[in-house]
Amino acid sequence: MLGRLNHVALAVPDLAAASRSYRETLGARVSDPQALPEHGVTVVFVDLPNARVELLEPLGENSPVAAFLARNPDGGMHHLCYEVDDIARARADLMRQGARILGTGEPKIGAHGKPVIFLHPKDFAGTLIELEEMSPT
Ligand code: CO
Repeated sequence: MLGRLNHVALAVPDLAAASRSYRETLGARVSDPQALPEHGVTVVFVDLPNARVELLEPLGENSPVAAFLARNPDGGMHHLCYEVDDIARARADLMRQGARILGTGEPKIGAHGKPVIFLHPKDFAGTLIELEEMSPT
């Protein structure tokens, strides 16, 4: 089911400061911030040769990242994103096996304009998992 690791996401209390550390201290290429109100976050992507790092800052009242930052005030690893070729099939297989899909369970459009779902951390070694559909190129 799983394809490549697409990104590792870090929740951060201050997106501008975190972007600066990656850009200036680590010399990485960092995208402009992108607000995703439907997901309750503002994101930037750090481009690496083999994957990306997503930095997430809470956006709005009910951000899913706010509770995480309350527990981890300096920030920390929030989720891993794996690529799948067919999100509807992946979702059906996972549900048949009893895995829990967060939210309504329906795919939402993620930061790259592709459908995504999130899987419950308790089902996968304590780590929130995002699956993103990558149509074969
Ligand atoms: Co993500």
